[in-house]
Amino acid sequence: MPDFKLEAAKTALQFIKPGQTIGVGAGSTIANLLELIAADKQLAASLTFATSSFKTAGLILQYDFRLLGSEQVKHIDIYFDGCDQFDAKLNALKCGGGIHTSEKIMASLANEFVLIGDASKSVEKLDTTYPLVLEVLPTGLQLVYQWLAKNIPTAKVTMRLSTQKDGAVITENGNYLLDVYFAETITIEKMNAVKMVPGVVEHSLFIGLAKKAVIAGEGGVKVLSPIP
Ligand code: 5RP
Repeated sequence: MPDFKLEAAKTALQFIKPGQTIGVGAGSTIANLLELIAADKQLAASLTFATSSFKTAGLILQYDFRLLGSEQVKHIDIYFDGCDQFDAKLNALKCGGGIHTSEKIMASLANEFVLIGDASKSVEKLDTTYPLVLEVLPTGLQLVYQWLAKNIPTAKVTMRLSTQKDGAVITENGNYLLDVYFAETITIEKMNAVKMVPGVVEHSLFIGLAKKAVIAGEGGVKVLSPIP
């Protein structure tokens, strides 16, 4: 079976022009893209990188690419990132990494945000497979729990816990992560409403930010645009 994520990365590579500032998120498709960039030494030397991911930053440094600190990033030409699931409008759920706040900042700083991955990520409508992840200020925790219990009572809410230490996963910003599993599909608007609760820093649903998705599957590589 072909490596679909690698195939998607090969197409994504073609969008990159010499001299650009390239943003990259997390995951195996992004790792493929970096490997392809590294193979083109002239292109790689002309690019500047920014990343939302600690792990990807390690790869960028291993390749000896030019990397901006996240506070220094003023502008990104193209931001590439994977996701867990995206719909026909290219609204994307990005749940696994727990770094959606910095991913959303980079996607918003970019001229163009391009989703990349295999065809399993593409769905007609976002479903309940993945949780909506909330980054929450410690002082807002109880208020967020109360809001969710009142407004989405059927949702199951769990705090993300560390497997390496006793206690919660703490984000780069010193906050908690809550995974909100919906019992039934709810609207994008209802999911987005949680953003207004004081203490919610950001949620993991990327609404209307992606301008393209590059996905590879049995039918080949497709470049999708959002369906209005
Ligand atoms: C993390 C993400 C990742 O980008 C996504 O999980 C990466 O997937 P893959 O390894 O399939 O490229 O959204 O929140």
